Formats: sequence, structure tokens, C-alpha cells
Amino acid sequence: MCGTHDSRLLPQSAYHTNCFYNRFLKRILYRQLTRGIFLVTCICLTAALAWFKLDTVPDQPDGISWLGQEDDTRITRSKGKTNRFSTYFKYILLWNTPDYAPFSFYGQGQRVFLKNNCAAINCYVTTERKFFGADTTEFDAIAFNGRLLYSNDLPKHRTMYQKFIYINMESAENYPVCNSIFDGYFNWTSTYKLNSDIPTPYLMVKNNTGQVIGPQANIGWSKDFPEINEEYSRKLMKKSKAAAWFVSNCLTRSRREDLVKRLQKALAFYGLTVDVYGRCGPLKSPRQQNKVCNARLERDYFFYLSLENSFAEDYVTEKLLTALQHDIVPIVYGGANYERFLPPGSYIDARKYNAADLAALMDWLMRTPKMYQQFFRWKSQLTYSDPSLVENVCKLCKALNDQEKFQEKSVYDKFRMWWNPNYHNRCRYFIEGY
Ligand SMILES: *[C@@H]1O[C@H](CO)[C@@H](O)[C@H](O)[C@H]1NC(C)=O
Ligand SMILES: *[C@@H]1O[C@H](CO)[C@@H](O)[C@H](O)[C@H]1NC(C)=O
Repeated sequence: MCGTHDSRLLPQSAYHTNCFYNRFLKRILYRQLTRGIFLVTCICLTAALAWFKLDTVPDQPDGISWLGQEDDTRITRSKGKTNRFSTYFKYILLWNTPDYAPFSFYGQGQRVFLKNNCAAINCYVTTERKFFGADTTEFDAIAFNGRLLYSNDLPKHRTMYQKFIYINMESAENYPVCNSIFDGYFNWTSTYKLNSDIPTPYLMVKNNTGQVIGPQANIGWSKDFPEINEEYSRKLMKKSKAAAWFVSNCLTRSRREDLVKRLQKALAFYGLTVDVYGRCGPLKSPRQQNKVCNARLERDYFFYLSLENSFAEDYVTEKLLTALQHDIVPIVYGGANYERFLPPGSYIDARKYNAADLAALMDWLMRTPKMYQQFFRWKSQLTYSDPSLVENVCKLCKALNDQEKFQEKSVYDKFRMWWNPNYHNRCRYFIEGY
């Protein structure tokens, strides 16, 4: 810098003092910098050493930890300062095989939290029950997949400092919990039910500023979605077919297959059809061609049947997402209160109509573009996406890092009832203790 000064701009003396001053500064800076680097290195080394020590010091002698043991080191451990880079890991044991969702989304170790850039990344997942030797009381949390819950395969011991978490993505109606030993067994729940401790719905909705606003009970949906623009309405008017249904499970508890049969009959009166794709229908749309398939769906169809296989509170699956992401009006059928999931005027609830009325409504909307277009007004303000691989996974680690929530005692005393208020009926043929 010094030599490059244009001397013509400065009187000779000024130039010299300026240059000397610069050199002086540089030297000081250089010295400070080396000192700084040295200091930082020292601090890092000390920290690393301390961390290593902390991590390798055995928490507790091996053997059985009894419930309520006073000197459980987990207390001190969980008192550790938590931030994103906390040196304290939260250890999570997935009790069941990782082959089924949502356990299949977690993998092993810490990687999934790093990869997903979660707010909390200090969690470690394993399916190895012997991870801490024979003692499963060392885990901060043990997660049970509700679809693989067996009363004869449960941890032998637990401490009051652990959270036993019931996790399930499947419908409570298809997977009721019948055995009474599970009342008072779980500390936390993580399911599609919105009042779970860690709610993990199949879809989420964000507003224009990117904030997640739902699903949620009592969403204050915006009342003034603007009219859709010309271009969008022209695109919608190119549609020609009534309804598509993608289905692979042909016989269900909700009897949706019967609804479709009745609807097909009623639609025939108007010369309209429900085109059935997948295992249960005549039309094929292979999964590998999902993109092509969805593009065709979006171009051709007015309605998309989003029919759940069973009726359970908040049980709304990813089928609905297909409609919302592809400019098709969803016709929903399920046990949920859909106001928690969808803005008013964006969907048709099949349970509110009989087949003849539903068919008449569909026919009318197809012939009245101005009315059909109303269903899409929310599109300029809201977006729907699938949280199951990222957001829902991150939530588990985040919850374990919430010190207050983690240390607060919590138990589901009437778990069977919470999970499925209809469990008495569903468990009629269940033999206790069997
Ligand atoms: C999005 O939602 C947040 C939280 O509810 C709210 O504060 C914000 O004003 C909303 N933004 C828009 C554009 O509606
Ligand atoms: C978890 O539930 C068990 C069994 O009811 C209970 O003893 C324990 O205190 C609970 N622990 C926490 C951390 O909530």
C-alpha cells in the first residue's frame, strides 16, 4: 500500500509521515494477529480436551438403575447449557426396527440433524438396544413405533428422567392401543394428532412470510384472498375430466371404496367419471413416473379424491398434498376437522353431501368457471409442503433440548383414550394379558 501512494497528491513530508505511520500500524496489527491466533488455538485445545474428558467419563457404573435414583448423572447432564452446538448429546433409542416410517427417516447417529440443518443438532439416534451395555436407562428418550407396539417386548427398566415417546403416523383407528399397561406408560407423544407433544402432521402450511401457520386448531385464516389472475384462470379452464382417485388399498375401514362407487353412479348421470388409478382400479400410473403423472393430473382434472382409509381425529395424509400442490380441488373424506388444515372455500368435504348432491355440485362447478376458480384464491398467499423428512425430524431433537419441557414430569394416564377415544369399541375382542 505504502509504495503505491501517488506522491503527486501529497506534499513530500506528508507522504513520509503517512508511510511511516502505515508501517508502524501494520507491524502492530501483525503482532496482535499472531497473538490472537495463538490464544484461539489454546482455547480450542483446552475446550476439546475438556469435552473429550466429559464424554469419556463414565456416567454411572454399569448395572441396573432404579427408578428415582437420586444421583443419576442425567440431572447434571441435562443441566448443561444448551445451544445448537451443545456438547451434551441427547441419546435417543428407537425401540423398534428402523424399517417403518417415521423411524426410517432418522437413520443412525447425529447425521440426520446435521443434514437437515436442524435448529438443534445435538441428538444421537440408535436402534442398538445394547448401545450403553445392557442398560437402556442411559437413554434420554426411548421412542416406540405405535404400529409395532407389543406388551411382551418393552424395556425392563426405566428412570424418571427418561422420556418414553409414543410415535405413530398411522391412523389410531387402524392401530388402537388395547393393553391397559400402556395407560400411564408414555411421557410424550409424537403423532399426526395436533395435540401431541411433538405434532408431526403429513403436511404443513406457510404464509407469505414463510411462517408455518398450520395445521393447527383455530387457525385465523385470512379472510381476504385476492381473485386469481387471468393467466391462472385460463390454465384452470383447460381442464376436461371430472375426478381422479389414486388408491392401492382396496378395502378400508372408512369404506371409501363404497363412497366412490356411489359417486361414480351419480356422476354417470352427467356423463362424468371418477378415474381410478393404482392397484384397485383399471388405470395405471406407475410411481416412477410420478412427475409425468402429476403434470397430467394438474392439466386434466377438476377434482382429486383425497379419501382417508379410516376416520380418526387429525388424520389427514399426504394424498391431500398432491391436490394442493397441483391446482386441483381436493374432495376430502376423513375424520379430521379440515378447518385445521385448509383455508375455507378451498376444498369439498364429501361427508357433508350425499353422492347425488356431490355429483351435482361437481358438475355445476365444472360448468361455472367463475365459481370453480374461487377454490384457488388462497394460492397467492399460502404454500403447502411435506414436513415429514425435515421439519418433523428436527422437532424431536428440539423437544429434547427444551430443558423445561424435558424435566417436567409428564405422563399420559389415559393413553388409550387419548390416542383413540373409540378404543373400547375397537378393542372389544382384545384379551387382556394375551
Ligand atoms: C405470517 O404469519 C405470522 C405468524 O402468524 C404473522 O405474524 C405474519 O404477519 C404473517 N404474514 C403474512 C404476510 O400474513
Ligand atoms: C415418565 O413416566 C413415568 C411412568 O409414569 C414416570 O414415572 C416418570 O416420572 C415420567 N418421567 C418424566 C420425565 O416425565
